[in-house]
Amino acid sequence: SPLHLLIDRLAAGEKLTRTELACLLERREGEHRDYLFARAREIQHRVFGNKVYIRGLIEFTNYCKNNCYYCGIRRDNRSASRYRLTEEQILECCRAGYELGFRTFVLQGGEDPYFTDGRITGLVRAIKAGYPDCAVTLSIGEKDRASYEAYFAAGADRYLLRHETANDGHYGKLHPAELSLRRRMECLRDLKDIGFQTGAGFMVGSPGQTMDCILDDLEFLRDFEPEMVGIGPFIPHHDTPFAACAAGTLELTVYLLGLVRLMLPRVLLPATTALGTISPGGREQGILAGANVVMPNLSPGDVREKYLLYDNKICTGNEAAECLDQLRQAMSSIGYEVAVDRGDAPGHSKTE
Ligand code: 5AD
Repeated sequence: SPLHLLIDRLAAGEKLTRTELACLLERREGEHRDYLFARAREIQHRVFGNKVYIRGLIEFTNYCKNNCYYCGIRRDNRSASRYRLTEEQILECCRAGYELGFRTFVLQGGEDPYFTDGRITGLVRAIKAGYPDCAVTLSIGEKDRASYEAYFAAGADRYLLRHETANDGHYGKLHPAELSLRRRMECLRDLKDIGFQTGAGFMVGSPGQTMDCILDDLEFLRDFEPEMVGIGPFIPHHDTPFAACAAGTLELTVYLLGLVRLMLPRVLLPATTALGTISPGGREQGILAGANVVMPNLSPGDVREKYLLYDNKICTGNEAAECLDQLRQAMSSIGYEVAVDRGDAPGHSKTE
């Protein structure tokens, strides 16, 4: 069928036109969908075998100077109970995580001015000194190029900065005017330039998102070629301007994971916490669509419920780092194996 042909051409590394991509997006049901997932899994297996990489997520501060309309830790949310972890607490998370088999630590936080470049580089150096065989990923937002350079020099390996939407008009509906897509893109360019394994990404079903926006996202990702792509459903948070908006769907999110695996065969693609939040088997479905990363929560138990970007975020149970055995079980039941490995982007490991 013509749809299968489009999927085959995508899997063969061909660049599809916007109209062709739109066609794949529109007709994403039934048998085409299964075929797309099968081709995506084939690529996933060719590049990564049956390995799923894990990252220990340490949510070290929920203070944020930004005011993104979708996010529960936005600065205007007076109901958020704010916290910061100390360096000792963060290192303790790493120690526990290392023992469990984590070889990547993701330091994620709001844009918190308390964490100056000096504090961040100190933290990165301490983790790299204690765990030289581990990768450190930062996810702390928009910074000056000089700051990114300092983090990289301190030993940080990767940086996650979702672009959120590649459509300028849509970007303006999700963020106050003090933030711009232009600046976001400049940061992403700087990160890649400096040598970080760089992660972009977007939410599915965020308010105002149209198929045109998603096409912009796909074309941006194809052209930018990030090493990592984070895609999860938008989920409303009760204390934000988007409280009454509908969540993104499992169906579209999983389909987009498959499409991205076809477009960027070597990309590190997480089945996100948000995906696991909207549906119990969401992360497994993500893996079966071509995702190859899971990011269990390594944050101390008492702060987990405070890092609430959206409502009902799962943070205990199967996705918690302590329950890695359950995760191993869940992955093995669908034919995958959790790797004790840094899990660098192919071509980016420092010993290659
Ligand atoms: N629903 C889903 N994802 C969200 N994020 C922030 N708020 C929400 C929400 N309400 C995502 C953003 C951000 C990442 C850390 O979390 O895409 O980049």
